[in-house]
Amino acid sequence: MKIQIINGPNLNLLGVREKSIYGSADFNTYFNTLKERYPDHELTYFQSNKEGELIDKLHEIGFDYDGIVLNAGAYTHTSIAIADAIAAITTPVIEVHISNVYRRESFRHKSMLAANCKGVIAGFGLDSYRLALENFINL
Ligand code: DQA
Repeated sequence: MKIQIINGPNLNLLGVREKSIYGSADFNTYFNTLKERYPDHELTYFQSNKEGELIDKLHEIGFDYDGIVLNAGAYTHTSIAIADAIAAITTPVIEVHISNVYRRESFRHKSMLAANCKGVIAGFGLDSYRLALENFINL
């Protein structure tokens, strides 16, 4: 299967930013462990801090890949444009969050994206990505 992981703003700083919330592992190391664990699947990774680049990536792969695991960071809570992009493509998207957003500030309780996604996984640390990935792989 072809699965794309997409990380949005500030997630390039995983392992550096707010470690008590997001942990001390950097994403590239974690991504390599996922690739080693699932050698029979084509896993790719993209990160951008720019809303338009995230939308361009969804358009680029969203009619071809089997699944998209998306952590849109704070754009989750604000971006109608990313919600529209998810609705426009045919590849199913799973929304993920490292932290349990429902235990945090109330502005993080609202997702603009969730209604257009296959499902949402939040609060399992980096393991949230694996859980989403396995949903696609085990289909
Ligand atoms: C996050 C939660 C968001 O509220 C926050 O803006 C992030 C990361 C998470 O993975 O827990 O940047 O998506």
